[in-house]
Order: sequence, then C-alpha cells, then structure tokens
Amino acid sequence: MTVHFIGAGPGAPDLITLRGRDLIAACPVCLYAGSLVPAALLSHCPPGARIVNTAPLSLDQIIDEIATAHAAGQDVARLHSGDLSVWSAMGEQIRRLRALDIPFDVTPGVPSFAAAAAALQTELTLPGLAQSVVLTRTPGRASSMPEGETLAAFAATGATLAIHLSIHALDRVVADLTPHYGLDCPVAIVWRASWPDQRVIRATLATVDAQGIDRTALILVGPALAAEGFDDSRLYAGDYDRRYRPVGDAPRFPE
Ligand SMILES: C[S@@+](CC[C@H](N)C(=O)[O-])C[C@H]1O[C@@H](n2cnc3c(N)ncnc32)[C@H](O)[C@@H]1O
Repeated sequence: MTVHFIGAGPGAPDLITLRGRDLIAACPVCLYAGSLVPAALLSHCPPGARIVNTAPLSLDQIIDEIATAHAAGQDVARLHSGDLSVWSAMGEQIRRLRALDIPFDVTPGVPSFAAAAAALQTELTLPGLAQSVVLTRTPGRASSMPEGETLAAFAATGATLAIHLSIHALDRVVADLTPHYGLDCPVAIVWRASWPDQRVIRATLATVDAQGIDRTALILVGPALAAEGFDDSRLYAGDYDRRYRPVGDAPRFPE
C-alpha cells in the first residue's frame, strides 16, 4: 500500500502528468484538496473509488482516512493543486506518514506560477533583466512569514516576483514594492490560470487594480513582464561556441 501525493496542476484537467493520471486511475481511494483541484480529474478514479474532499477535514481526520486505507491495503491518490513543493501542506502529512510507517511517493505537478506565465505568454527570466524568480506570499490569517522574508527584501533584488495568496492585500503589496521597482514597473494579475474563465490584468504598480478579484490569483511583478528591449541569450548566438554547436577553428568542445 502506498500513498501517492500527486500535483494536480493549476486547474485545466489536462495539465496533469500522465503518471499522475495513471496513479489516480489505479487507486481505490482518492483524497483531494477542495475547490482548486478540478472535478474533472476525479473522473479518472476507478468505479467505486472512495473519493473524499479534504477541505473540511482536519489533519488528524485526513491521516485517519489514510490509516484506514492502509489497514485495508488500499492505495491512496492524494491530490493537491499545482505542484506539491509549494503551499501544499504535504510536509505535515508526510511527517505523520513517516511516524506511522506508511509508504508514500510524490509525483510533481504544473505549478500555478508556470500556468500564469503561460497565460501571459511571458518568460520570467530575461537576459539582463531578471535571472531569478521568487515564489512568495504575504502573511495570512493562518500563516505568519519568517523574519527576513519580506516583500521589500525580495524586491531589493529586482527579481521577478510571483506573489501567491495575496490578492486580497494588493494595496500592501504595491506599497511595499513601489520604492524598489518604481511606479512604472509592470504588474500582472492572473486569476484562475488555465481554467476556462481565466482572467488576466496587465498594469503597472501605479495603475494596478484587482477589479474585484479576491482569491485564486497570482500577482507577478518585475521588469521582465513587459520587456521588449532585452538581449538575446548567448546560448543561441551564432558565434557562441558550445558543446552541441562547435564554432570556429579551435572549438572548446571538439567533436
Ligand atoms: C495554497 S496555494 C497552492 C499553490 C500550488 N501548490 C501551486 O503549485 O501553485 C494557493 C494559491 O496559489 C495560487 N494559485 C493556485 N492556482 C492558481 C491558478 N490556477 N491561477 C492563479 N493562481 C493560482 C493563488 O495565489 C492561490 O491563492
């Protein structure tokens, strides 16, 4: 028996890995994390599967569900939105599973920041403008931020910021970022990236307005978001000598 943690992707039901889909189809128990996991994914569950929305459950109740399946020798598909490496609450579940000696594995998913960048048709790292992406959030009712992980500290780097779980605090975000990026800095809000009703708002720090959006949105900020005047990458430059495309009389990596 194994608990399969599966990244369910950002919303579009076909943005799940083949491995994730096949694991769902093979598990007699499926626990899924509320409204952010698209209902269409549950159609991959086998007939008669026990399908449980864990949104109203406590951690103890979720572990009870898993322990019951474990006792019955039934594999569990555990679905969380996006990828499991960020804001999935997987960490606390696998700590309990290790203590109970219940086997598990992890299948990654498409994170929402990648779906938002796709919606914007934007590369978040552009030569000379931004070579780092910071996945962050602002404090919430249930989650404080570790000291030092402030928006201002990240903004001081000039990186592209992908700010999660914070659309309700847009005014605060703008106030914290403006001294570092300037009022002209491009901002994008992507609501429900990859869902059929996805919405995109493009603006600057001076003009951005959430237009009534109050959840399930990403705020992306940084000069890469609206840039045209950036350098081509050296990787594909005609005169750039590299292992897969030797150039010149004395290539660095001769064939
Ligand atoms: C609990 S976190 C889950 C993050 C998820 N594990 C991931 O990989 O993106 C929920 C937050 O992620 C962002 N989010 C999740 N899905 C989204 C989507 N389809 N479009 C825009 N933002 C999304 C929002 O900021 C939302 O408040």
